[in-house]
Amino acid sequence: METQSAKNSSEFVNSNLEEMYSDEQIKRRVAQLGAQITTDYAGKDLVLIGVLKGSCVFMADLMREIDLHLTIDFMAVSSYKDGMVSTGDVEILKDLTNPIRGKDVIVCEDIVDTGLTLFRLTEILGSRGANSIKIATLLDKPEPRIKKELKIDYCGFQIPNEFVVGYGLDAAGRYRNLPFIAVVKNPAIA
Ligand code: IMP
Ligand code: MG
Repeated sequence: METQSAKNSSEFVNSNLEEMYSDEQIKRRVAQLGAQITTDYAGKDLVLIGVLKGSCVFMADLMREIDLHLTIDFMAVSSYKDGMVSTGDVEILKDLTNPIRGKDVIVCEDIVDTGLTLFRLTEILGSRGANSIKIATLLDKPEPRIKKELKIDYCGFQIPNEFVVGYGLDAAGRYRNLPFIAVVKNPAIA
């Protein structure tokens, strides 16, 4: 079914996409997360770390909803997948610009699927002397999680085990600029 947002974004009118969360719904939820972080981090030395590339849209919106002084940094990692399953090995493709020793870190992700990438990444960051490390993710797919005891501190939406794009999330590099989140009905043709 074609949604209002899809109609307004003619580049993306595509019967293979079905809107899951509209841009207004995302904005409201991100504002709630920002307000919660503002309360939780008052008086702390907050650094937001974006995991490139998918988190860029979420982090850009989230940081403008946080009414505190903060700094930002970015990492790029590649997770090794054995077929469709993440092995949990992570290679750092781009590291942080600044040290995080003594800082209160929130790692921002687009989506947590198996959780293995963030589990390993928070282990790596944990060895660098941060005062605290928490996780903010726009989306969480709890269902396929390989049990890794990953604690998600701030979550936008929990979603079913479907492939989604938009608002930073991609299919083969495309759709990151879609302003809403959509399910890809047939990922093979996305
Ligand atoms: P995992 O939690 O280690 O399995 O890896 C999560 C990463 O897989 C995310 O940062 C995304 O790059 C990618 N990913 C997982 N599910 C989706 C999806 O539905 N759409 C787009 N990317 C996804
Ligand atoms: Mg990612």
